[in-house]
Amino acid sequence: MALIELNQLTRHFEIRPGLVDRTVRGKPSRLIKAVESLNIAVGENEILGIAGESGCGKSTTCMMIAGLLPPTRGQIIYRGSDLATADAAVRKEHRRNVQMIFQDPYESLNPRFRVADIVAEGPRALRLWDQKEIGDRVESMLAGVGLNPGKYTERFPHELSGGERQRVGIASALVMQPVMIIADEPLSMLDVSIRAGILDLFRELQDQRGFSSVYVSHDLAILGNVADRLMVMYLGQAMEVGPVEQVIRSPKHPYTRALIGAVAVPDPRVKRPVPKISGDISRPIDPPPGCRFAPRCPYADDSCHDTFLELDTSDPTRHQAACHRLHVLPDEGL
Ligand SMILES: Nc1ncnc2c1ncn2[C@@H]1O[C@H](COP(=O)(O)OP(=O)(O)O)[C@@H](O)[C@H]1O
Ligand SMILES: [Mg+2]
Repeated sequence: MALIELNQLTRHFEIRPGLVDRTVRGKPSRLIKAVESLNIAVGENEILGIAGESGCGKSTTCMMIAGLLPPTRGQIIYRGSDLATADAAVRKEHRRNVQMIFQDPYESLNPRFRVADIVAEGPRALRLWDQKEIGDRVESMLAGVGLNPGKYTERFPHELSGGERQRVGIASALVMQPVMIIADEPLSMLDVSIRAGILDLFRELQDQRGFSSVYVSHDLAILGNVADRLMVMYLGQAMEVGPVEQVIRSPKHPYTRALIGAVAVPDPRVKRPVPKISGDISRPIDPPPGCRFAPRCPYADDSCHDTFLELDTSDPTRHQAACHRLHVLPDEGL
């Protein structure tokens, strides 16, 4: 049984015009379709990478999996139970077992709490252990992420550097002893010099504990390193999924090819069959049906504009792309 299964998971945001525009000028509300009909399962001990440009729905997906944002449509199945209808015990288990590390270490920590209280907040809320044990675990967790407890427990977030804050965020997630970590671009706000240290920490913990993860990044090099499987998203839709080295070495979807082609190639003599892409990335506001990449895709035909081909996720090892036109694309391979 999968640890987490997303079934037609969808999230729309309504943007309502101001009162005057709405009532006097009759402007309608518009819909941002941030995440559309995602189907994917993450197994125990598996790391699923999610790649895609800013605005493609990565954070919205993470928030839904972590139970922090309700879906508009579709289900999140946690160890076989639909979270929307599961009983309180299952929801509590999910709240403990699925923890999120946020993208922005400046916004995600409560500025009025001291470090020790920030890390203790989750275990206290779920009454996981008695006060003494929570205190002990918070200290050893801080030490585990490289923050000397004697020096850091009494500090406030504004007294910490970005890297230290991100470590506090990681400690808050790990102290719950989760089985799954949702890491939403955990390195993107950090200085390059401290990224490697945090990445090593993440890998170390992964080796020691063996947990699953959804790891979001726009950096394919990092994903190639940490993920087992990769899902590529574009404007809310899943474009391609498969074992990470297959997707990176021989991308199928025209969008994935373009994304990988945009990454610097170490050897400039290597020619890549990358399609030319024209047009802008827009926000998915009132998008037409069909593939959202179609307006920019040099291979698109009417079928692409009319219908979106959803991925068939019944076989998690399969490499596949949500593209009607694979048969007309030039040979894959780089
Ligand atoms: N609370 C919100 N209200 C309105 N629009 C939102 C909200 N959250 C996200 N969006 C929109 O949904 C889309 C996906 O956003 P997000 O999931 O943050 O993308 P990513 O993490 O891939 O950059 C974007 O167009 C964003 O502007
Ligand atoms: Mg994001």
